Amino acid sequence: MKPLVVANWKMNPTTLVEAKRLFDSVKKGIKKIKKVEVVVCPPLIYLSELRTQDSNFKVGAQNCFWEKEGAYTGEISAFMLKNIGCQYVIVGHSERRKYFNETDEIVSKKLKSVLDMELTPILCVGETKEERDQGKADKVLKKQIEIALNDVSKFKIQNSKFCIAYEPVWAIGSGKPCDVEEAQKAGLLIKKIISNLFNIKIAEKIQILYGGSVNSKNAEGYIKEAGLDGLLIGGASLKPNEFVKILKSVV
Ligand code: PGA
Repeated sequence: MKPLVVANWKMNPTTLVEAKRLFDSVKKGIKKIKKVEVVVCPPLIYLSELRTQDSNFKVGAQNCFWEKEGAYTGEISAFMLKNIGCQYVIVGHSERRKYFNETDEIVSKKLKSVLDMELTPILCVGETKEERDQGKADKVLKKQIEIALNDVSKFKIQNSKFCIAYEPVWAIGSGKPCDVEEAQKAGLLIKKIISNLFNIKIAEKIQILYGGSVNSKNAEGYIKEAGLDGLLIGGASLKPNEFVKILKSVV
């Protein structure tokens, strides 16, 4: 399986012109890199402007709402995302949990709507610094995954592409990435949780990503040493040269 590298632009850049420029630089930079699958998740407002024809280069969304349509001011559904050619959706990012009070139950509803639309969810899980210091990191991951996948059928999950990103909250945007061994341990734990919920085949199929202060110096370790399936990148994805360096380092 090719490593999957997801760029989470968050609420950047501030103009469409810059967004197009950034997108084009990445597109150009990855032309010769065929062994990585790249997904760019821009702010929704730019999404339909940033099209790609390349099978290794796709667009995704940073969020969605769980209903298909109706009186939900300001929201966008998974159905709408699919309609404009989006293939991936980040669900449950810690910034959404923090600033928009997204609970595990809300994350679960969103996840199900993404799966129903046959889009690929990138479910984000991870403990805070406080939870880690209290020795609760494993418990937090288990709870987040179990609630998110509550009532998702084995059939649905085995017939979907599904990604889980381990994103320790303390590593995001902090310049303090998680150790490669710790990320590997978390990846194995996630597989075990999935295996217990469904079966080992499904656990093997799920792609595990790492996210949190990834840069061109540390990216390689998560893929080549820890054996993870991909990366979710925030800050470094806004610098095209750095981002392309990361892509080159993981193949
Ligand atoms: P970062 O963000 O790479 O800037 O730490 C990662 C993320 O939030 O997905």
